[in-house]
Amino acid sequence: MDKDTFLQLLQNKKNLIDEALPAKVDRIQGHGGLKEAMLYSILAGGKRLRPTLLLMTIESFEQDSQVGLDAACAVEMIHTYSLIHDDLPAMDDDDFRRGNLTNHKIYGEAMAILAGDALLTYAFEVISGSKHMNNDLKIDLITKLSKAAGPEGMVDGQAADLEGEGKSLSLGELEQIHHRKTGALLGYSIYAGARIAGGTKQQLDHLIHFAHHLGLAFQIQDDILDVEGDESKIGKPIGSDVQNNKSTYPHLLTISGAKDQLLKEVASAKQNLYRAGIKHDWLEHFTDYMISRDH
Ligand code: IPE
Ligand code: IPE
Ligand code: MG
Ligand code: MG
Ligand code: MG
Repeated sequence: MDKDTFLQLLQNKKNLIDEALPAKVDRIQGHGGLKEAMLYSILAGGKRLRPTLLLMTIESFEQDSQVGLDAACAVEMIHTYSLIHDDLPAMDDDDFRRGNLTNHKIYGEAMAILAGDALLTYAFEVISGSKHMNNDLKIDLITKLSKAAGPEGMVDGQAADLEGEGKSLSLGELEQIHHRKTGALLGYSIYAGARIAGGTKQQLDHLIHFAHHLGLAFQIQDDILDVEGDESKIGKPIGSDVQNNKSTYPHLLTISGAKDQLLKEVASAKQNLYRAGIKHDWLEHFTDYMISRDH
């Protein structure tokens, strides 16, 4: 598969999510202000990497990815909530996200917190209410998603990221933070895709290792973009990490050291991907796309 064909497939998957996701939120029968704040961030765009990865993983097993649409929307809801909260004044205090004003800049801090809470909770309702999956599969995905998002996953990574502000962390400590704050949800996406597609235990194990390295590569690239990205392309302010005294790969290793580390993570990711014995070209292209992105 050449790069253009891949980019076309990526766009197709993104379109599917861009359609399904707001429709699910729009269906909520609730108080108008909360739903509006939820929809604002859901409609604000974003690359939709996590749900796309989930759908592409299913197709890498040569299965129909439609079955995974609910699980894919759920992870994007949790990701979106994490960004709304990450941008709050008490956290990274950022005014722009996905090229638009951050949620709290429009709706105020209290409503932004609630919109995040609501997206987090609703994600689980979307999986449990899915008509495309049996109960065993739903319970497994709910278990894995709550682990990935919760106090041993993303939220713990965010807490460690805050606690690490102003401290000089070791590379191992930083890797642990990145693994949890970013790797965990990417890991869920790949796991869920493989599990929905009926992957074997051994395949799941290889793909979990693939996800680990992919997650680190992704956050290293995010850290690099915070230094040398183009604000008009990435849609969020650069320099936020330095301003907040964050420990990042460029901070610890210099920019060129961070770029070397990025390539190492990519190589390890691909090694594990090849071991899974699936049709790997989509996920291989996805890995290259993810680290060459400029936004
Ligand atoms: C940004 O994630 C936050 C991190 C975990 C580094 P993305 O770069 O996937 O953000 P969107 O969804 O495209 O806005
Ligand atoms: C945030 O990491 C990761 C999560 C929201 C879980 P960052 O703080 O680096 O994300 P950006 O750079 O604001 O998107
Ligand atoms: Mg942050
Ligand atoms: Mg941030
Ligand atoms: Mg960042």
